[in-house]
Amino acid sequence: MTDLAVLLLEWYDKHHRVLPWRDNPTPYSTWVSEIMLQQTRVDTVKDRYIEFLSTFPTIKALAEADLERVLKLWEGLGYYSRARNLHKGAYFVKKEYNGVLPKDPAELKKIPGVGEYTAKAISSIAYQQPYVCVDGNLLRIFSRLTTYKTPIESPSAKRDCEHFLLPIQPKERPGDFNQALMDLGEMICLPNGEPLCSSCPLSGLCAAHASRNETHYPKTGKQKEKPITEITVFRIACGNQVAIRKRPTNGLLAGLYELPNKEGKMDINDVRNEFPEAKEIRSGKTHKHVFTHRIWLMKEYYIIFDNKPNIANAIWATKKDLEEMYALPTAFKVFVD
Ligand code: ADE
Repeated sequence: MTDLAVLLLEWYDKHHRVLPWRDNPTPYSTWVSEIMLQQTRVDTVKDRYIEFLSTFPTIKALAEADLERVLKLWEGLGYYSRARNLHKGAYFVKKEYNGVLPKDPAELKKIPGVGEYTAKAISSIAYQQPYVCVDGNLLRIFSRLTTYKTPIESPSAKRDCEHFLLPIQPKERPGDFNQALMDLGEMICLPNGEPLCSSCPLSGLCAAHASRNETHYPKTGKQKEKPITEITVFRIACGNQVAIRKRPTNGLLAGLYELPNKEGKMDINDVRNEFPEAKEIRSGKTHKHVFTHRIWLMKEYYIIFDNKPNIANAIWATKKDLEEMYALPTAFKVFVD
């Protein structure tokens, strides 16, 4: 077994959720639980599963039951087509498979209401067949483990996830392996915000954790809206020099130079108040600067002094200095060119 499977199963043996369908799963009980779990939370399903199985303990009993009784028992669970399909499916299995659910996911998928995920869950949990059940939780775990860059909703993501996990899945415990991943996705490798990496058995193998990038995965194809900041830029000139200053050594454009500026939109009167000693103030260019993760909407004011004003941390640079000495990023260069 690989490290990943050993660590995952050790963790599962100690910390798994105790759920009624995990005690002696039969193909029929696994089918019922997986259908109930399709759109419903585990806590809601627990009691309803027990009630359902004690009312209809076998496929034969379900196949022969009145649909009305099945629907009544489904009350409150919602998505009633699941109950109709279970009932129809029981009749189908009785007729087509002599009352025994098939092992092969391709056959299982012929049963009404059984899709790829459910077929593989039944096959792996009830028949110990080597299949991985890929859903959103599993894709999240996979994308963090491998820092997977392809958008997670693309079809290749599902295929790559299966190709990654199937060779690791232990032949003797495929169902536990799958259910361990389900528990990890529900309890530890959480979406939206911080996953609980300090409790994760796989943190030492997780590429996203190694670079503290857990929350950047999974990647999605959706473009996030870039935040827009308005910036007022001061092109402050005295003789043949302009004032520039060095940006902080960390963060955006770290350590480069910039024209003095202030976050927020200012009109010419605001600028006059900011520089009461200026000889002349002119409204200048506007520039939209698109960075990878944000947008600056920049508005320039050209401010002319006869005598050098006191500007915090200012360096006075000639055009030649700007060309030869100071790295002025494009966002600001557009105003001095
Ligand atoms: N969700 C879907 N199948 C499940 C299972 N077997 N255990 C827990 N959660 C699940």
